[in-house]
Amino acid sequence: MAIRTHSILALTLSILVCFAESGGDTNLVYSPCNDASVQKDDGFSFGIAFAARTAFFFNNSLQLSPCDKRLSLSSSNSQLAVFRPKVDEISLLTINTTNFSPDSYGGYMVAFAGRKYAARSIPAFVANSTYIVTSFTLVLEFKKGRLQNLYWKRDGCASCSGNSNFVCLNNQDCAIRMSSCKNQGGSVDCSLGIQLAFSGTDKHDSVFNSWYEVEKLRQYSLYGLYSNLRDSLTSQYNKFF
Ligand SMILES: *[C@@H]1O[C@H](CO)[C@@H](O)[C@H](O)[C@H]1NC(C)=O
Ligand SMILES: *[C@@H]1O[C@H](CO)[C@@H](O)[C@H](O)[C@H]1NC(C)=O
Ligand SMILES: *[C@@H]1O[C@H](CO)[C@@H](O)[C@H](O)[C@H]1NC(C)=O
Repeated sequence: MAIRTHSILALTLSILVCFAESGGDTNLVYSPCNDASVQKDDGFSFGIAFAARTAFFFNNSLQLSPCDKRLSLSSSNSQLAVFRPKVDEISLLTINTTNFSPDSYGGYMVAFAGRKYAARSIPAFVANSTYIVTSFTLVLEFKKGRLQNLYWKRDGCASCSGNSNFVCLNNQDCAIRMSSCKNQGGSVDCSLGIQLAFSGTDKHDSVFNSWYEVEKLRQYSLYGLYSNLRDSLTSQYNKFF
């Protein structure tokens, strides 16, 4: 089982791009706002936008892709991260919050990709001035190699029940008190970790298996597999900048 980590240490520009190495990658679409059709071993670009929940809705009612100019996200208080994981690999995306506080950009995030075949997740609560949710699982669902759907997989706080460091918000998110975070004087590294899983089929109708692996392993236990997380973050940092 191949496991890879992708990290963004600080979102100081409005767009940061985080690419995996390109061996075996036949997908020439690099923008998260264009349509791609992928096969196993391809990279796939998608974005995560941080903004206020309302910023993702047009006319207060219709949720649009962050690529849609009608939202004018780029002129509102928002941040964008672009990732390019390999499809069907278990990947952990990390966003270092030392110099980036999601609550100061509205506190919600949406994952998205595509133009004509645009898919976007619902907005997920990340942080406000009291709480921060640091662990997420994002499922990318494909059909014949085209992204159909992006959704946050939640476990109803099963992964943090009985752990007094966490608060269960709305029966779905394990949150940490902001006051426990390092940048607020506490001791916890409140960086965000986003576990990716791929489901469905590639353009040759081969079935993606990483979703099955993630489900088998359960959300938090996966972090144990990234024992060299800090080292790999450092080396990726050196590679990208
Ligand atoms: C915005 O929503 C209102 C009320 O639902 C509706 O009357 C109006 O036509 C909508 N405007 C646009 C541009 O869609
Ligand atoms: C985030 O960045 C800080 C400062 O560079 C570093 O000390 C910390 O280990 C990083 N956290 C992660 C999860 O990489
Ligand atoms: C932060 O979010 C939590 C959960 O939705 C809510 O209970 C709390 O009132 C919010 N705090 C602030 C300051 O907005």
